[in-house]
Amino acid sequence: MALKAEEEQFLPSTPGKFKDKWSSGKNRQFYRCFASTSTMFLWALFLVALTAAYLSFQSFVDSGNKFFSAACGGAHWEKQIRSSAQIHRHNGFAVLVTGAAGFVGSHVSLALKKRGDGVVGLDNFNNYYDVSLKKARKSLLNNHNIFIVEGDINDGRMLAKLFEIVHFSHVMHLAAQAGVRYAMENPQSYVHSNIAGLVSLLEACKTADPQPAIVWASSSSVYGLNDKVPFSESDQTDRPASLYAATKKAGEEITHTYNHIYGLSITGLRFFTVYGPWGRPDMAYFSFTRNILQGKPITVYRGKNRVDLARDFTYIDDIVRGCVASLDTSKKSTGSGGKKRGPAQYRIFNLGNTSPVTVPQMVGILEKQLRVKAKKNVIEMPGNGDVPFTHANISSARRELGYKPTTDLQTGLKKFVKWYLSYYGYNNGQSVK
Ligand SMILES: NC(=O)c1ccc[n+]([C@@H]2O[C@H](COP(=O)([O-])OP(=O)(O)OC[C@H]3O[C@@H](n4cnc5c(N)ncnc54)[C@H](O)[C@@H]3O)[C@@H](O)[C@H]2O)c1
Repeated sequence: MALKAEEEQFLPSTPGKFKDKWSSGKNRQFYRCFASTSTMFLWALFLVALTAAYLSFQSFVDSGNKFFSAACGGAHWEKQIRSSAQIHRHNGFAVLVTGAAGFVGSHVSLALKKRGDGVVGLDNFNNYYDVSLKKARKSLLNNHNIFIVEGDINDGRMLAKLFEIVHFSHVMHLAAQAGVRYAMENPQSYVHSNIAGLVSLLEACKTADPQPAIVWASSSSVYGLNDKVPFSESDQTDRPASLYAATKKAGEEITHTYNHIYGLSITGLRFFTVYGPWGRPDMAYFSFTRNILQGKPITVYRGKNRVDLARDFTYIDDIVRGCVASLDTSKKSTGSGGKKRGPAQYRIFNLGNTSPVTVPQMVGILEKQLRVKAKKNVIEMPGNGDVPFTHANISSARRELGYKPTTDLQTGLKKFVKWYLSYYGYNNGQSVK
């Protein structure tokens, strides 16, 4: 009862009026004080709620923009893309090159642009290796009027925007997390770029109207522990030796699905150890050159029973010709806006050199070119994803693409060393980078 009486004290007797009891001066003062405190409290509560709502809205917007960065969007950005995609030859292509700031991507972009195709690059400039080298390749491409969009292939919104701005006839998909050993350090990066990113790109291609034909880089690493040589496209590829290889093999199966269901025209290229100017610093020929010039030892792996490792080293210009021939012989995708109208082309080719060279022989060529003796540290190959040898059978590519590699390792490394010495400032007497 006492509680009830107390509660009643705080209730208005009639709307807009308070009980008479409150009319005494003392109580009025108390009420005013209480009323202003509770109003302040309510205002504070309102402000807190407003701030919370704003912050959660902001984080929602941010998550939508996770990849669609400030570098993307706007009239100027679109103008650069349109201008870069302009075709300057009869029946030319408009090609989206992913991984354009990478080793192979930069060379392919230049080759396409030089013959009059429209080229738009896309790269996320990740720091897997020296970003300044990627930026230098970008400047080189910019000088040839090729614009590289800074973005991630996982960004579906940005991809949709690119396909809206340009009706790409072809996609040359070279963006990937490369390297075999790094998978032990950062396995997620392989899933991010080589699986999730691939699916995101295929989704964009599937929905694009017109659908582009796709040529993409798989890898010789899919042959894994296969010991039948030379490696043919029909050989088994179900024993990968690294996560990198496993993601490339998964890519072949994922692309097959998109070809089968959505009628996307797809060509997968299994590259064999690509080397040359503007190459990748994580690859042996590149890091050996750096160490030899700096007087540092190099680690040379040897297989079981002291057998030397061997690679089917393929010069970049030969690979570029294989990529361009694949684009040229691609058939149109047969689906549009996700509706399939008939079977589409699905192909896989080895792009190699067909003449494996052992790693010690490769070191010997570098020593000769650099005129410096290497300090070799020969150890047994650890189980970190490398395979003992690679050797491509290229008869399919020869037959269907007219692919014919012309550069031997001696000639190719000579060109690489020339570029390396110039790029890193050795020609001026001192390395500057
Ligand atoms: N170089 C070789 O010997 C070799 C051999 C077999 C296969 N490949 C394949 O060829 C392709 C090109 O290789 P490369 O040697 O030029 O490698 P690279 O690392 O120089 O080029 C790949 C480029 O892709 C970009 N990239 C990575 N993930 C991305 C993402 N999620 N979104 C946007 N961009 C991204 C990187 O920043 C890089 O510039 C890759 O698919 C690679 O797996 C290369």
